[in-house]
Amino acid sequence: MSDHTPAATYGSYLKIEELLSLQQPRSPGPEHDEMLFIVIHQVYELWFKELLHELDCVMRLLEADKSHRAQHTLKRILTILKVMVAQLDILETMTPLEFLSFRERLDAASGFQSDQFRQIEFVLGLKSEQALRRFPEGSRARAALERRYHEPTLWDAFLRCLAREGYDVPPAHLALEPVAPAAAVQPSAEIQRMLVDVYRRDAKNAELCERLVDLDEGLQEWRYRHVKMVERTIGARPGTGGSSGAAYLQETVGRPIFPDLWAIRSQL
Ligand code: HEM
Repeated sequence: MSDHTPAATYGSYLKIEELLSLQQPRSPGPEHDEMLFIVIHQVYELWFKELLHELDCVMRLLEADKSHRAQHTLKRILTILKVMVAQLDILETMTPLEFLSFRERLDAASGFQSDQFRQIEFVLGLKSEQALRRFPEGSRARAALERRYHEPTLWDAFLRCLAREGYDVPPAHLALEPVAPAAAVQPSAEIQRMLVDVYRRDAKNAELCERLVDLDEGLQEWRYRHVKMVERTIGARPGTGGSSGAAYLQETVGRPIFPDLWAIRSQL
């Protein structure tokens, strides 16, 4: 280490002063529960950042045919997802009246505007041009989403890995840069036939498939718990982000990320 670099301390390394200055309630008083509301959202954004970091790593490992390491990283991702779902319990200790005491101060702010959540969806294959356009041109968020919109998804990386191992993956799924990104992974009878074969004959890749199903189920679990929390906190009120609220969120629950991995269950 250079002589001029001061030794790190807990505070300097983790930027504790900056971190603790970032919770700024808007309600007069301020209302007691606004602190929890801010902290929990900030914690989620940090977990989203870590998830993206790990998802990028899984994709790189799959592209390098290091599927054992990819599984290890997927396990970490799943553990984080479980913690993220469990954390909703904390926010559910906030009653509807406690939330209403500061809700109007949020103006149009909403999780709807979380670009990192959309980035996670895009990496997993749930891409939406409409979601992308909600972020101002030239912003960090827009640039990150545009990049991910055109990049291959985790599913693409997995299929390419299988193709290199000799599986008969349809060529349309092997393009490095999808010409017209699909809004979601489309079910494919051809791929399902191949996956049944994987499950029957190839324990290593079947295990990897199971971790992808875990990931799919984990995100659905978060969506389900989030919409239940929304229902118990604001009922049928519209969202601050401009959607119909719980009714909109209900539509996203149960939507699979990897439909082929679900479809083959009845054929195994
Ligand atoms: C009292 C607590 C909460 C309420 C009442 C609530 C309410 C809502 C509503 C109504 C929506 C639909 C969009 C809109 O605003 O119109 C939404 C979306 C969303 N919320 Fe929450 N939310 C809460 C807590 C959280 C937390 C802690 C997170 C964690 C980051 C979060 C993340 C999101 C995300 C990512 C979306 C977009 C979901 C999608 O479009 O599929 N929310 N929320």
